Amino acid sequence: MNPVPGEGSLDTPLMFVGEGPGEGEDNTGRPFVGRAGQMLNRLLKEVGLERDRIYITNVVKCRPPGNRVPTNQEMSACSHFLMAQIQIVNPKVIVALGATALSFFLEKKVSITKMRGKLIEWVAGKYIFPTFHPSYLLRNRSTGPGSPYDLALQDMRKIKELYEKYRKI
Ligand code: URA
Repeated sequence: MNPVPGEGSLDTPLMFVGEGPGEGEDNTGRPFVGRAGQMLNRLLKEVGLERDRIYITNVVKCRPPGNRVPTNQEMSACSHFLMAQIQIVNPKVIVALGATALSFFLEKKVSITKMRGKLIEWVAGKYIFPTFHPSYLLRNRSTGPGSPYDLALQDMRKIKELYEKYRKI
C-alpha cells in the first residue's frame, strides 16, 4: 500500500481535492490516475486547463479498504496533511470533487447537487468551488444537455475562468 500525497504545481491558484486514493492510485502513489483520473483529464482537456498547472490531492492519503468512503475518524487523522498542503500551495480556490471533500471543508453533510457550481467563501480570501466527483460521471454515462457530465463541464469552464483570474504568471 502506497500513500498518495498529491502532485502538481506549487505556484497555482487552484487545488483540486478528491476523496481518497483508489486502486490505481494506491499502486502508483499518484492521485487521479485510474478511471476517475481519466475522466478528470478529459474535463480539464475540454476547457484547455493543463493538469500540471494545478495541484491535485485528496482528503485522505491512503486507500480506504474496498474503496469505501473514508470515515470521519480517517479524515481527521489525515487532515493535518491537507492543511499543510493548503498552507504551502496557498491556493485561492479549492475545487472540492464530490460530497465527501465538500462536507470535509464545510464541516457538515451537504448535497453536492445543490451546492455545485457556486463559489463559497471558506476562510478570508479563500474559496471552495464544489463540483461532481469524476466517478459520479462514470456511473451516469449520458453526456447530453443537463446530464451530470454537461453540468461538470459547465463547472470546469468556470474553474478555468477562476484560474485565469487568479493565476500569478
Ligand atoms: N478518486 C479520488 O477521490 N481520488 C483519487 O485520487 C482517485 C479516485
